[in-house]
Amino acid sequence: MKKLVVATGNAHKLDEYRALLPGIQLASMSEFPPMEPVEEDAPDFIGNAILKALAVHSHTGLAALADDSGLEVEALNQRPGVFSARYAAGTDRDRYLKLLGEMENQPNRLARFACAIAIAGLPEKNSDDSIIYRDGCWVSVGYCYGQITEEPNGTNGFGYDPIFSVNDGRTMAQLTAAEKHAISHRGQATKPIINVLRSLMGVYSGSI
Ligand code: IMP
Repeated sequence: MKKLVVATGNAHKLDEYRALLPGIQLASMSEFPPMEPVEEDAPDFIGNAILKALAVHSHTGLAALADDSGLEVEALNQRPGVFSARYAAGTDRDRYLKLLGEMENQPNRLARFACAIAIAGLPEKNSDDSIIYRDGCWVSVGYCYGQITEEPNGTNGFGYDPIFSVNDGRTMAQLTAAEKHAISHRGQATKPIINVLRSLMGVYSGSI
């Protein structure tokens, strides 16, 4: 069975893809010799996902799925956006505490998580799939809309999950993994690529 390598060093993302792509055999970057970090200098999530997918496909020889994601906050002119991982040095907690600081006394708390997925190393085919083929990659984007909380809550998930609340007022970090996947930016971006994986890898047998 062909493997799809997930182009990330983030164990949380890999776990999420294992749940979101049942039936696809996923490989992790730890199964390959180390590679130079990819310079993520594109202006948007799609561009960075494409850069990572192409680099990892060429390094491993396998079809490669890369995810570039982040948090866009309306009152901060969509920051931190593509800089979400580099918004502050240190840990995820350091980054979300900095964001809460910037949002102090800010009444507009609207925000969204964005996720762009690019898959390199699969053929382009003529199809009516709902996703696009660009620069040698299948590309899909998903969003999850919510609000920035006043304080962190919850211990599940990762990244900015403890300060991002969804419809029922719970933060993403208070949801179960299955609840997060049903509404998350990553879950939304994954749905349209399942058909592509099913037909081009010929191995998909799960459901979502
Ligand atoms: P990337 O690894 O360059 O895509 O950076 C993603 C940034 O957005 C990191 O700071 C992550 O912690 C954050 N991020 C991405 N996806 C999620 C998520 O599902 N929940 C919370 N934070 C996320």
